Amino acid sequence: MILTFLSYIFCFGEMASLYNHFVDSKTSQSVNHFDIEKQLNVINKPAVKIIKTTHGDTYGCVDLYKQPAFEHMSVKNKLFLYNVRRISSLKKSRVNHENFGISWDNGIGCPIGTVPIKRVTKDELLGLNLFSTKYKPRGSWNSTSSHYNVDNDQQHHFAVSRTKGGKNKKYNGATMIVSLNDPKVKLPQYSSARMHIQIGDDFIQIGWIVNPKLYGDTKPRTFVYTKAGNNQCYNSMCQIGIILVRSDIPFGVALEPVCVRGSNPSASVTIAVYKDKINGNWWLDYGEVTLGFWPASRFKQSYANNVEWGGEVYSAFMSGAQMGNGYFPKKHPLFDAIIFNITTVDEKFEIDKLVNNTETFSDNTRGYKVIEDLYSDYPVGHIIYFGGPGNI
Ligand SMILES: *[C@@H]1O[C@H](CO)[C@@H](O)[C@H](O)[C@H]1NC(C)=O
Ligand SMILES: *[C@@H]1O[C@H](CO)[C@@H](O)[C@H](O)[C@H]1NC(C)=O
Ligand SMILES: *[C@@H]1O[C@H](CO)[C@@H](O)[C@H](O)[C@H]1NC(C)=O
Repeated sequence: MILTFLSYIFCFGEMASLYNHFVDSKTSQSVNHFDIEKQLNVINKPAVKIIKTTHGDTYGCVDLYKQPAFEHMSVKNKLFLYNVRRISSLKKSRVNHENFGISWDNGIGCPIGTVPIKRVTKDELLGLNLFSTKYKPRGSWNSTSSHYNVDNDQQHHFAVSRTKGGKNKKYNGATMIVSLNDPKVKLPQYSSARMHIQIGDDFIQIGWIVNPKLYGDTKPRTFVYTKAGNNQCYNSMCQIGIILVRSDIPFGVALEPVCVRGSNPSASVTIAVYKDKINGNWWLDYGEVTLGFWPASRFKQSYANNVEWGGEVYSAFMSGAQMGNGYFPKKHPLFDAIIFNITTVDEKFEIDKLVNNTETFSDNTRGYKVIEDLYSDYPVGHIIYFGGPGNI
């Protein structure tokens, strides 16, 4: 069993199609066409070049500094000073595409100095906006109301482990290794396995998600979600989203293969978010690759108060979607969806590999459960087993 973990593999396998969408700008019900056009203009920036994946998906190669997330006023001036060196060194490094699972028609992706952004049609955007209010990802805990974050109509479900201590805590980063699974989800539901980092009233989420409305299929795909001030969106598709730094790797990559329950080896991916000590920007590593960052100015607060790891489901007034691998956890790494090797980075930038100040939380144990194990025999630190059939 130890071998299972040691042989952990980073799986960005073949993918059938690439999508890189976004959702929702502000609130929404009253979306008018003027707003939609404005939003489309933000997302569909003029491209230096149009490229395709071998599966036929089309991306625009947008100038690094003209991507949607660079529009935000507070970023424009400051960022250059801090980041030019870092960005230019990063954008020269390319991963092995065979391993990462992205295959571009031209073999390399976008030209250096540009980033791949999926084009969006008006219909797609309208479809996403329709659901925006209820649809939004969130943390399980509402620190404003000191209560958990489910709607009255109970469409959001969580099975997570989260740090305690609320606003008194200060974190400068967090990591996890998360198993890759493919829960059954029906449009317009979604099911994710993610790390949620609460930064005052703002937050970021990173992990994988099965979200047919967003991505057009039922595969687990990479995603990032950012809430800052009154704005929130997936990936880099709004002005406060993450800023991409890779010319060859977009968000929304399908993750394959996924874990086969009960069999070895398991498939997983390492995810890390860490604050730059010098300028306060938050960087994201997905797998072995640095994909992008959020400038310090994105968030009102410079540190996080709370981190949570686990599953989130939006059930959309249907029988609840599956979470994790669709089974209740039995505290066995081969049979459960798991998150392991979780760490946090404290205010002195010291790494805590035990993270013993957590509590587990499930809002509905008839559908979803979570178990954590801090002192297991496996050499993987703090483990969180989570998931369930939903069906509630
Ligand atoms: C958190 O609680 C506050 C106060 O009750 C409420 O206004 C807000 O909408 C809640 N946030 C979420 C995401 O439910
Ligand atoms: C967590 O670990 C630290 C150091 O390893 C220890 O001092 C502390 O008492 C532990 N806390 C809990 C709640 O077990
Ligand atoms: C997981 O955590 C263990 C114990 O802290 C450590 O020895 C191991 O190197 C970590 N593995 C990875 C892949 O980070």
